[in-house]
Amino acid sequence: MDRTRRLRQTKEIRDMLRENHVRTEELIYPVFVAEGENIVNPVESMPGICQYSVDRVNEELDRVMQAGIRAILLFGIPAHKDEVGSGAYDENGIIPVAIRQIKKDYPDLLVIADVCLCEYTSHGHCGVVENGIIVNDKTLPLLAKAAVSYAKAGADIIAPSDMMDLRVQVIREALDEAGYSYTPIMAYSAKFASGYYGPFRDAAHSAPGFGDRKTYQMDPANAKEAMREVEEDILEGADLIIAKPAMAYMDIIKDISNNFNIPIVAYNVSGEYAMVKAAAQNGWIDEKKIVMENLVGMKRAGAKMIITYHAVDAAAWIKEEEQ
Ligand code: PBG
Ligand code: ZN
Repeated sequence: MDRTRRLRQTKEIRDMLRENHVRTEELIYPVFVAEGENIVNPVESMPGICQYSVDRVNEELDRVMQAGIRAILLFGIPAHKDEVGSGAYDENGIIPVAIRQIKKDYPDLLVIADVCLCEYTSHGHCGVVENGIIVNDKTLPLLAKAAVSYAKAGADIIAPSDMMDLRVQVIREALDEAGYSYTPIMAYSAKFASGYYGPFRDAAHSAPGFGDRKTYQMDPANAKEAMREVEEDILEGADLIIAKPAMAYMDIIKDISNNFNIPIVAYNVSGEYAMVKAAAQNGWIDEKKIVMENLVGMKRAGAKMIITYHAVDAAAWIKEEEQ
């Protein structure tokens, strides 16, 4: 008689049979850098997460290094915004300045630079706006310029999150031309128009000033279309594929993993983090158990890496389990 409980009788046998693991070296921690001085500004809807000015970001990065985290994803908050988001590609803008310092002070830390315009545009959209329309092809060269300026500053990976058509191809060509043909592109390919980005938009001051992002981000109801997005980005030259958000879209991670041979990155987004934190602060859930269960679920679905605001805490919990 088959008795599946036979293989669950001791911790040793359970550990031996565990199929998926959350590993610290596969976690990516998002960091918000703000233009200005002496800034450590807590994000209210994301307990534990702050914006840091470049002169104080090392306080956070020391903690990140100590936890054993090896990769960060950088988002910039500029002092000034304009129509075309010029702060995104300015070689002395917040991100290039931050990257130069971080790579100098922490040469072993993998720095992934998010590429988008929404933090830098006065209207808060991810592309150039004309007559209320987000114009795809006028946005592309600006994204390419931003990507090259981040690569020049020392970024290890470029991560376009704008969802414009053809951006991966245009960014790949621009990087190659500038001599960065070995800088990988981590493309936000299956990125849905989600309510789960709310707290991030507080953190990055990037909520759209009019309308929404539904003409460029995907409809949450669509799975087949996500496969098409992934396929196109791979053909355009993406090296790594992001699926985002993670928890309400585990099927998308699984579908990508079943259909493509490319490393998948799950983005455990701000709203997912906020929900867990709020319930944990109320004592309604066990934070460690819930976070590790969510993260291993992403691995089980097929994610290779996970971008998560829980990364520093998770790294500590993983270390605890090992002892
Ligand atoms: C910007 C960007 C967003 C996120 C990552 N890059 C927000 C958005 O598209 O509005 C969301 C991250 C999160 O919620 O944690 N394009
Ligand atoms: Zn954007």
